[in-house]
Amino acid sequence: MSHHLCESELSGIELTSESQRWELRVLQTPEEMRTVEELQRQVWPGSETDVVPTHLLLTAAHNGGVVVGAFVEGQLVGFVFGFPGLEFTPDGPRPKHCSHMLGVLPEYRDQGLGFALKRAQWQIVRHQGLEHVTWTYDPLLSRNAHLNITKLGAVCNTYLREVYGQMRDGLNVGLPSDRFQVDWWINSRRVVDRMEGKPYPRLPLSHYLKSGAPVLNPVEWDDEGWPHPPASSQAAMEDGHPLPTVLVEIPADFLTIKATQPDLALAWRFHTRALFEELFANGYVVTEFIHESGRPPRSFYVLTRDTRGA
Ligand SMILES: CC(C)(COP(=O)(O)OP(=O)(O)OC[C@H]1O[C@@H](n2cnc3c(N)ncnc32)[C@H](O)[C@@H]1OP(=O)(O)O)[C@@H](O)C(=O)NCCC(=O)NCCS
Repeated sequence: MSHHLCESELSGIELTSESQRWELRVLQTPEEMRTVEELQRQVWPGSETDVVPTHLLLTAAHNGGVVVGAFVEGQLVGFVFGFPGLEFTPDGPRPKHCSHMLGVLPEYRDQGLGFALKRAQWQIVRHQGLEHVTWTYDPLLSRNAHLNITKLGAVCNTYLREVYGQMRDGLNVGLPSDRFQVDWWINSRRVVDRMEGKPYPRLPLSHYLKSGAPVLNPVEWDDEGWPHPPASSQAAMEDGHPLPTVLVEIPADFLTIKATQPDLALAWRFHTRALFEELFANGYVVTEFIHESGRPPRSFYVLTRDTRGA
């Protein structure tokens, strides 16, 4: 019964996909969910207990949750999964969509599939009448930051320490599971423009530097070319007043650091934890992300603060 309800509810939505290379589909059957289990094992290898099982995916999908798959020649190569949730505001509890997982097989990354899956989720969640989607991601992952902040238009001023306790999967073992929780205001002009493929401003690093926005923590390179966080960071103040815009640098390739330099990975975690917690407490919001693919590639968050009356 719930299966039929769910099918008719979503069948009116035609998922946007300008690419001929893949097909996007809302997933609803036990067989489809089993392929999502299998895909999770490939995207997050190493921990069977962290796989979201078929029965939970199905129950979520039959109760307002959204599971969308991307297929190439009939093979599932990516998926997005989330479910309705509640957030607690000064006006009382409000409904939102909690997006839990987004995964694309390594050989299909950087082709726009992550974006396409999130846009499908955006279409469905808007259709459900919700306005707010949240999810968490590791703020040290440059590719994820570029996708979430630049391409999708999410913003962030929430830093969560150790969200998942000790994680056991191969991508995360041994590092505190600190996360950004991002806000995706799905009816905002900022997000709608991006989802509809309209142009939006993407300014280079030089623009920010020229306009007086400092990099609070420029990386220091060692002899082997590893980026280290500086011993101390510049304050986000000038003449006793908070600056309207500041930049925070992160490594452009944290995945390699995590895999080969665990002490350096930990140093980056604690360095950025302190910096972001302080900036968010002082009213800053992550609004843009810059990734410059030079030699070496470099990555920066842009944080802005309303300085009127400050
Ligand atoms: C995060 C993930 C879903 C992204 O999927 P994807 O299909 O590669 O996403 P897209 O192709 O839409 O976007 C990736 C963007 O990052 C860019 N990119 C690649 N490496 C980058 C880097 N080091 N820094 C910044 N941007 C980078 C790509 O060029 C692309 O941007 P562009 O379209 O402007 O060129 C995928 O990498 C993945 O499955 N990762 C492992 C699991 C994970 O981290 N999931 C999310 C948290 S639950």
